Amino acid sequence: MNERTALVTGANKGIGQHIARLLAAEGFTVYVGSRGPGRGQRAVEEIGAGARLLVLDVTDPDGVAQAAAQLDRLDVLVNNAGISPSLAPPTDTAVEEYRRTYETNVFGVVAVTNAFLPALRRSPHPRIVNISSGTASLAWSTTANPQFAPGNGAAAAYRSSKAALNALNVLYAQTLAEDGFKVNALAPGLRATDLNPQAAAAGGDPAEAAQGALRLALLPDDGPTGGFFSWDGTPVPW
Ligand SMILES: NC(=O)c1ccc[n+]([C@@H]2O[C@H](COP(=O)([O-])OP(=O)(O)OC[C@H]3O[C@@H](n4cnc5c(N)ncnc54)[C@H](OP(=O)(O)O)[C@@H]3O)[C@@H](O)[C@H]2O)c1
Repeated sequence: MNERTALVTGANKGIGQHIARLLAAEGFTVYVGSRGPGRGQRAVEEIGAGARLLVLDVTDPDGVAQAAAQLDRLDVLVNNAGISPSLAPPTDTAVEEYRRTYETNVFGVVAVTNAFLPALRRSPHPRIVNISSGTASLAWSTTANPQFAPGNGAAAAYRSSKAALNALNVLYAQTLAEDGFKVNALAPGLRATDLNPQAAAAGGDPAEAAQGALRLALLPDDGPTGGFFSWDGTPVPW
């Protein structure tokens, strides 16, 4: 079978659902990762041909192992599932808030990536796309620039979790480079989704961000790895 397969975590809505739709349109069999079976099934029906449900809570180790056991080969893994439960600065953020956020945004990515590595290794052109955030960029957070307003320490748990994800993105890319993997992080830009009320009020079209993820999922063998890219393909400074 030369069927190309992809998994998008947290694909029952938001940016993830758009990424899954684009991958299906490219001819992939796309596993729509969803911790809620009903929500996931709805998304599968909305996407249509090529979409399959994969029940997957990235914070549930047994569930992750069971999901990974269902896939023999995987060509594209998009670590998209994420939460942003608080906009509080570090001075108002309890350790428990960091734990909760990191559980999904960092440890969930590690768990899913490691569990699906055997299936990815069976792909001739394995690709991992980590959905990060421009708010994780320490450079953008400390330097005035047109794409991101710096200047305060808001959303400490979320932004530091995505900075940790960026670090892991580099380390996975380096570790897997010899095996033909391309591992890259995406800054999708502010998008109107349920992630947080501010984004919903001020954000742009999540479908546009998904195009950036698709580009990284379809990178040629001479494409970059270990990078951090904006949705429009321009590099984001760390
Ligand atoms: N929207 C933005 O402006 C923006 C900007 C920068 C980065 N991002 C990143 O983009 C990614 C997608 O976010 P979004 O904006 O599309 O938000 P969203 O609409 O809230 O979607 C988040 C998805 O993640 C899923 N999820 C959360 N925890 C999960 C878990 N433990 N296991 C499996 N799935 C889980 C959610 O599932 P449920 O429906 O079950 O909750 C949902 O499908 C996230 O990584 C986010 O950090 C978004």
